[in-house]
Amino acid sequence: MGFPFQRCRRLRHHPAVRDLIRETHLNPQDLIMPLFVAEGISEPQPITSMPGCFRYPIKNLVQECRRLFNMGLKAAILFGIPKTKNTEGSGAWKKDGIIQKAVSEIKQTIPGFLVITDVCLCEYTSHGHCGVVKDGEIVNDDSLVLLANTALSHAAAGADVIAPSDMMDGRIAAIRTILDENGYSHLPVMAYSVKYASSFYGPFRDAAGSTPQFGDRKSYQMDSANRREAFREVFLDIDEGADIIMIKPALAYLDIISHIHDVINYPVAAFNVSGEFAMVKAAAANGWIDEKNIAIEILTSIKRAGADIIISYHAKDIFQWIF
Ligand code: PBG
Ligand code: ZN
Repeated sequence: MGFPFQRCRRLRHHPAVRDLIRETHLNPQDLIMPLFVAEGISEPQPITSMPGCFRYPIKNLVQECRRLFNMGLKAAILFGIPKTKNTEGSGAWKKDGIIQKAVSEIKQTIPGFLVITDVCLCEYTSHGHCGVVKDGEIVNDDSLVLLANTALSHAAAGADVIAPSDMMDGRIAAIRTILDENGYSHLPVMAYSVKYASSFYGPFRDAAGSTPQFGDRKSYQMDSANRREAFREVFLDIDEGADIIMIKPALAYLDIISHIHDVINYPVAAFNVSGEFAMVKAAAANGWIDEKNIAIEILTSIKRAGADIIISYHAKDIFQWIF
C-alpha cells in the first residue's frame, strides 16, 4: 500500500521526531584530531593551506592537547616535522627525535590523552619518499627495518597506538613483530591499509615539507580506481596483525569504507584528509558554503558509510559546534 496511506513526510514534520529517527550520530568518542609538531621553532606557525591548523613547538602542542582533552576530545594523531632531513630519514627513529620528545611530554603531562603516532619516513627523508630509495626505486624490504625501528621508538616514548602510513608490503608484520619482541604486545596497530595515491594530500605535504622530490607515490600507494584491491590490502593487514583498519582519503572513497565495513569484523577508521578540509575552508572563506553545516554533513556521511572512527582536521571545530 503506497500513497496516500504512506507519507514519508510524517516523520519529518516535528523536529523531535526527526531526532528520534535519526540513524547516524557523530559521537565525541568517534573523533581523532591530527596535529603537527615541529622541531626548531619557538612559536606556532599557521599552515596557509589549512586555516586554523598550526605546526606547534612541543610546548604549544602540549597546551593544545590539554585544551582538547578538557573539551572532551581525547585522542590525537601526531605528525613530526624534523629540523633537518637526510636520505635514510634517521630523524624518524631517533631517541630524542621530535615525535619521541613530543609523545613523552604529552604522556607525562596528560596521561589520559590518547596519543597515536603516524609511522612513516617521508617527513624525515630528503627525497620525500616513504621508504628507502635506491637507483630511483623505493625499495620495499629495506624500508621495513627502518619503519619497524621507528614504530619501536614511538612505543618506547609512550605512544598508545601505532599508525603506519607508508604502504610498504609487510610493514604491519614487521612492526607487530618488533613491538611484541620488546614488550609492547599490548599496543594496538591502526593500519593505513587502504591508502590511495591521492592529490587530496597536497596541503599536508605543504605543512610537513614531505612532497616527493622526484616521481610520485604511485608505486606504493593504491590506484584510486581500484576497489577489489582494497580488500587484498585489508585482509593482508589483518593477517599481519592489524587491529584497526584505516581507509584514506574518506570523502571520495565512501564506497570503499562502506564495502570494507560490511565484510570485516574489525574497527574501521577513515581519514578525512587535508585536501578535503582545505576545500571546505576555502569555499567557506569565500562565503560560498556554510562551513559548520557542511563539515557536520561530511563527517556524518563518513560515519554513515561505515567508519567507526574519523580522523579529521575539523574534529576540534565539531566539538565546539555540537558537543
Ligand atoms: C605520511 C602521511 C600522509 C598523510 C598521512 N600520513 C601524506 C602522504 O602520504 O603523502 C596524509 C594526511 C592528509 O593529507 O591529511 N605518509
Ligand atoms: Zn609517508
